[in-house]
Amino acid sequence: MCLYCERACISTNLTLIMLVSMEVWLQPSNPQCTSIDCAVCPSALPHIVDCFSANMETLRCRWSSGALHNLSEPGALRLFYLNKPSTVNWTECPEYSTKRPDECFFSEAHTTVWASYRVQLRSRDQSTVYDETVFTVYERVRPDPPYNLKWDVLNSSVTGQYYDTVVRWSPPESADVKSGWMKLQYELQHRDTNSDLWKASDLLDTTHSSVFGLHTGIQYEVRLRCKMSGLAFGDFSESMYIYKPSTGETTLCVVAVLMLVIISQQQKLMVLLLPPIPGPKIRGIDPELLKVIFLILSMTI
Ligand SMILES: *[C@@H]1O[C@H](CO)[C@@H](O)[C@H](O)[C@H]1NC(C)=O
Ligand SMILES: *[C@@H]1O[C@H](CO)[C@@H](O)[C@H](O)[C@H]1NC(C)=O
Ligand SMILES: *[C@@H]1O[C@H](CO)[C@@H](O)[C@H](O)[C@H]1NC(C)=O
Repeated sequence: MCLYCERACISTNLTLIMLVSMEVWLQPSNPQCTSIDCAVCPSALPHIVDCFSANMETLRCRWSSGALHNLSEPGALRLFYLNKPSTVNWTECPEYSTKRPDECFFSEAHTTVWASYRVQLRSRDQSTVYDETVFTVYERVRPDPPYNLKWDVLNSSVTGQYYDTVVRWSPPESADVKSGWMKLQYELQHRDTNSDLWKASDLLDTTHSSVFGLHTGIQYEVRLRCKMSGLAFGDFSESMYIYKPSTGETTLCVVAVLMLVIISQQQKLMVLLLPPIPGPKIRGIDPELLKVIFLILSMTI
């Protein structure tokens, strides 16, 4: 078992040496790493990864067998818990998940939001306690991501280069927001898909938000996540993509200007190549102007 620990520590030291040789000073995060002490390398041992509640009604605890892959089959690691200060007897996980071998599910009947839980990860024969964690369910509430993202154009600039949008979404289905049991705050992030830089909104209490000043002809990626006030964010939603082609008004303007230029050049060329046209028969009307008007009319028809 300690062998795995030793390996983990050596690789940590190697990264440290590399960093130091690059003249980057980092406080060693694991100073006892050189000793063969399993306690300093907990990730190599079986450990509790996370206990969290998506809906403030049920609880899930997940674990990892670390480097001991022979402990990854169901039943090799067992989860026990205490959630009432009065009880002294540990209770085994009420329901091991059937979909994944590393998860325990606590239904409503076994979840008390404000109670303190003490959870242990033990070996099959319970002779070894690999990990232990203490928490209240409330502080571990991490909602599922929002879904059903949609967008609409609010308005466009006169040149057609910029536009404003409104993005709408639905709260996670698992969260009871209608009754007020959960009150969620959202964060909207968007970026140009050619960039790694996300722009995050302030915390939003609504299920819609405007995104201003997007460029036409550029694809944007939008994602959302949510949280309870004062607690950690849940996962990001699936991305939605926003794109508005840069054709339309701009191209029309450019085409119109080009046409006018060509027409005016044409007049100059004709003046250069052809003998002068006799003067106008009708006083006050410029024949050049007439030609231009005729050309524009014939093009629009
Ligand atoms: C799992 O593997 C480790 C390291 O090889 C060994 O010490 C341990 O006894 C094994 N456990 C089981 C349950 O097979
Ligand atoms: C704890 O477990 C012991 C032995 O299984 C049992 O005798 C005792 O009544 C239990 N205590 C409680 C409070 O459940
Ligand atoms: C959309 O309309 C608002 C209010 O009239 C204006 O301030 C904003 O600049 C417009 N957006 C664009 C992209 O033109």
